[in-house]
Amino acid sequence: MSTPPISPPGCPAHGLGLGPGGLRRLYGPEAEADPLGLYEQLRHQHGQVAPVLVQGDLMAWLVLGHRENLHVLQNPSLFSRDSRLWRDMAEGRVPPEHPLTPVAAWQPVANFVDGSHHKRLRGAVTEALGRFDRRGIRTHVTRFANQLIERFESVGQADLVADFAERLPMLVMCRLIGLPESETPRLVEAALDMIAGTDTAVASNAYITTALQQLVVEKRERPGHDVASYLIAHWSELSDDDRAMLTDDDRSELTGDEIVVEHLRLVLIGAFTKTANLISSMLHLVVTDRRFRTHLSGGQMTLPDALDQVLWDAPPLTSVLGRWATSDTKLAGQPIRAGDMVLLGLAAGNVDPAARPDLTAPVHGNRSHLAFGSGPHECPGEDIALAIADTGIDTLLARLPDIQLAVDEADLRWTSSLMSRNLTALPVTFEMRLTTPAGPTKVSDALPPEHRNTPLPAAMMAPAAQAASGGKAPSLWSRLFGG
Ligand code: HEM
Repeated sequence: MSTPPISPPGCPAHGLGLGPGGLRRLYGPEAEADPLGLYEQLRHQHGQVAPVLVQGDLMAWLVLGHRENLHVLQNPSLFSRDSRLWRDMAEGRVPPEHPLTPVAAWQPVANFVDGSHHKRLRGAVTEALGRFDRRGIRTHVTRFANQLIERFESVGQADLVADFAERLPMLVMCRLIGLPESETPRLVEAALDMIAGTDTAVASNAYITTALQQLVVEKRERPGHDVASYLIAHWSELSDDDRAMLTDDDRSELTGDEIVVEHLRLVLIGAFTKTANLISSMLHLVVTDRRFRTHLSGGQMTLPDALDQVLWDAPPLTSVLGRWATSDTKLAGQPIRAGDMVLLGLAAGNVDPAARPDLTAPVHGNRSHLAFGSGPHECPGEDIALAIADTGIDTLLARLPDIQLAVDEADLRWTSSLMSRNLTALPVTFEMRLTTPAGPTKVSDALPPEHRNTPLPAAMMAPAAQAASGGKAPSLWSRLFGG
């Protein structure tokens, strides 16, 4: 689909994206139509750090440079994850109903604290995740991917976003967290419903919380080899230091069980949305870019190489909210004041000409992209996310090597939000098959011969930005994270 151009200065439509002080809005129709184009305009106008407006026309700094993103990510003493530093919030300009409140209101969880408190909370999560060996995770992924494929392979058509990409990470994560398999289909539906912003999204959110609370009660009695049991064991005894940290001005002290529930939610929902986005973006390239597919099927590019390319060109989180300046400072010449919000522009940093002068040069094996962050808060789920995406896609393409896009590429739609950009559907067709318990196990074994031995393509570029689609009214959650 062609990207609606950003209107040039002087055009009457141009003002749509401009707010107080002539600053560009990172939200609204103009920003959401072409976020990547907007980042480049901002870079051109302001350099590697740009003043922007977020929801409610609150001023923030968007970091566009690769080096500058790393500087912010790696210096928590200057740029903290503690949102209580946010001047706009402290001065009452971010009321409870503000769209950023759900993601910016401080909580005693690992991704809102720094220093020793962060070490303690994050340490428990990374230790719990580290207890699963990668081969075991891949076994679960293969089994769940096969189950999903068996639901649609006999009809010869599927929507690879709704029927595959959105389901697989949740099924795997529910298994790792310790939720019984009988519960997972309903939890998948509840999480999808919550993110899609239907009328029942609030009830779905409550359903997930209740399921996690029940899981904690159950695992306390009968621990197993799962994240919930490891976190319970970790937080069964809270130290005085923990108690001090877990008490916020506005709330009473949290119990160890509540901390476990909040971290299970952080892992479950965080893993689900971003890994689903990564799988969708990759499958989009497979069915729309013949050279990409040929390269992959011919064995010149491995699946991990292909995922690297997607993580550079279409990172699941386009930006991360946020960091808050702890004192007055300068970043790329911009005057940052204590309490200012700083947004990490991961997608913009990945295409920063200073770091990547030739966007067509292959990046295979180059892991210095920003997709998983960096520094103390760097994603602890990277290996798990890559195992889910890589094994899941391999299983799908091995069983259905003939998948083809079922609609015109121009009819594909994306939704954009402050933090991500998501394909809404990926309809495909393929030859109907009788359901078989297992197919070939390697993509290159299963693809037709004409898809092999074709010349190497240049590196794949991100798909052109697309206009937001119609459909369901986006929820607060989906406007921030996409859905
Ligand atoms: C493709 C998939 C994923 C992407 C792109 C991704 C990206 C990120 C990024 C950029 C951050 C850092 C945010 C910041 O600096 O403020 C982060 C943090 C986090 N991620 Fe992921 N993530 C993915 C999958 C996962 C998975 C599968 C898990 C769990 C198994 C996970 C668990 C977490 C947690 C717990 C944090 C908070 C860490 C902290 O604050 O110390 N993520 N993720």
